[in-house]
Amino acid sequence: MKHWLKPGLILLIAMTTPLLLLGGGDAAAGKPVYDKKCAMCHGAAGEGKEAMAKMLKVEFRHLGCKEVQAKSDPELSKIITEGTGKMKAVTGLSVTDVANVVAYVRTLAKK
Ligand code: HEC
Repeated sequence: MKHWLKPGLILLIAMTTPLLLLGGGDAAAGKPVYDKKCAMCHGAAGEGKEAMAKMLKVEFRHLGCKEVQAKSDPELSKIITEGTGKMKAVTGLSVTDVANVVAYVRTLAKK
């Protein structure tokens, strides 16, 4: 291995490994995904759309409430990719999209 290649490689691994390990998504990248794939039901801020709730005969919990936020990232990912109750699986998302949108949902947490 060329001597200049090694530090670069180590840096690259150091930068990407935590991301892969934590499944840590990028909330900023998750916002457009949320706006496109979730907001029509869950509302722009996670509050839930009244009209959609009536149509689906459900009551939305705010995505920022502590019950939802108490779910782990893998649990949230599973809800998105497999659906839950009356929510169908959301399709057309890459693994990265899912991680990013989960990170975005974290930003909706009520303080
Ligand atoms: C077609 C409407 C619709 C879309 C689109 C949708 N959801 Fe849902 N979602 C629901 C409904 C309805 C529920 C409640 C399911 C139930 O409890 O029966 C739900 C539940 C959830 C829950 C669990 C909430 C709780 O109270 O436990 C999470 C988290 C969630 N959705 C996230 C998302 C995310 C993130 C997206 C976008 C990637 C998304 N949803 C897209 C309708 C939708």
